[in-house]
Amino acid sequence: MTQCQILDHPLITHKLAILRDKETDAAQFKATLASLTALMSHAVFAHLAAEDVVIDTPLEAMTTQKLAKPPVLVSILRAGNGMADSFFAICPEASLAHIGAQRDPETHLPEFYYEKYPADLAARQAILIDPMLATGGSAIMAADRLKEKGVSDIVFTCLVAAPEGIAAFHDAHPDIRIITAALDRELNDNCYILPGLGDAGDRIFNT
Ligand code: PRP
Ligand code: URA
Repeated sequence: MTQCQILDHPLITHKLAILRDKETDAAQFKATLASLTALMSHAVFAHLAAEDVVIDTPLEAMTTQKLAKPPVLVSILRAGNGMADSFFAICPEASLAHIGAQRDPETHLPEFYYEKYPADLAARQAILIDPMLATGGSAIMAADRLKEKGVSDIVFTCLVAAPEGIAAFHDAHPDIRIITAALDRELNDNCYILPGLGDAGDRIFNT
């Protein structure tokens, strides 16, 4: 059963309000997205597997924990990169993989165009990243590809989710937890999220 975790934090909501505001320019959008993603990372990385290790502090030996295996961050191009770089900065031990998907403007269906993964992908936990979960088509396709490659432990994280996207993703991938900064009202006729923040890729990359 898909768990959908909506992050309830005043600073996350504050930063998301800046991103939603149409007056926010690309420079401020990028900077705010980076710091918002850093705030989300606490929840997003909370499910990583850890293992006991013995280390020597300057004063004595102790048993503590380190990551069993660093995760693979999987950015859904292109807008996913606006968040993935921030997660990567916080967890530089991770690998950063990419899946290229672009929605067709007429059908709203994702078209796959690129993928690149580490060789041991199947043995690692994956964090799938895209700011927007609208119809769910892009995230579902990306999760399909990860599972085809043998990945069994996946978390999907986004900034803004639509109820339609959560329902579709749940139907396709009931085992994958969704972690989102907000759950919005609905999709419009062009499958954009309302109230949303517009086209995430265009706002990040100033296109
Ligand atoms: C946007 C967004 C998601 C997708 C969400 O990407 O970044 O990938 O739409 O919509 P969906 O849930 O209906 O699939 P877009 O296809 O516009 O590509 P871009 O990131 O290159 O701008
Ligand atoms: N993609 C976006 O970037 N924004 C939306 O609202 C929907 C899909």
